[in-house]
Amino acid sequence: MSLRKLAAGNWKMNGRMPQLAEAMALAGAHPSPTVDVLLCPPATLLAPMAQAMLGSAVAVGGQDCHAAVKGAHTGDISAEMLVDAGASYVILGHSERRADHGETSAMVAAKVQAAWAAGLIAVVCVGETETQRDAGETLAVIGAQLAGSLPEGASAQNTVVAYEPVWAIGTGRTPTPEQIAEVHAFLRDKAPDAGIRLLYGGSVNPGNAATIFALANVEGALVGGASLKAEDFGQIIAALQ
Ligand code: G3P
Repeated sequence: MSLRKLAAGNWKMNGRMPQLAEAMALAGAHPSPTVDVLLCPPATLLAPMAQAMLGSAVAVGGQDCHAAVKGAHTGDISAEMLVDAGASYVILGHSERRADHGETSAMVAAKVQAAWAAGLIAVVCVGETETQRDAGETLAVIGAQLAGSLPEGASAQNTVVAYEPVWAIGTGRTPTPEQIAEVHAFLRDKAPDAGIRLLYGGSVNPGNAATIFALANVEGALVGGASLKAEDFGQIIAALQ
């Protein structure tokens, strides 16, 4: 049986306590969506957001975790701590972490393993830079990231894959429908379990969501900026239903 589609919001380093109102408005406006809905706030908002979302259809997730269970890792958060705070998902290998924190696919794979061990669903991100696309390397880059970031044992139950072209993140630019479809067909072919949900991410907004969701092998979205406002994210959820 195939899993429900997934509308995931990545708040990145945005949001403080007053913004919990947006999450509550979203939950209130979508009491029983026919798709899975996920919000990944900054770590400081995880526990209060999870608390506020109790009894709602909105799941809460982290944006990163450490590969270790505990120990001397100042500033880091373990997968078990995310679970403790109320998370059921964690985004791993986002291009901003690969770029800003030098995360390699091997490091991402170790984090995925830790996430699974804690019972979290890993949302693993892959995507090419503009230079790589221009050089015709898109599928090679994505294939290597996917193979390197997913440990043995990836399944539809424990893993979601998000295709996020780096050049489309926060830029208002999106690939053409053909380009998205090409990458998603490739990911479908390479994903170790045919049931793994494939999300598209990068400048998804209420205006382009329906077109993107109509494409084959697109089972949802990982949304940045447009997930910060309940109204915008609500329209994206509606387009996915
Ligand atoms: O993880 C989501 C993200 O990188 C896309 O961001 O702002 O382009 O929707 P945005």
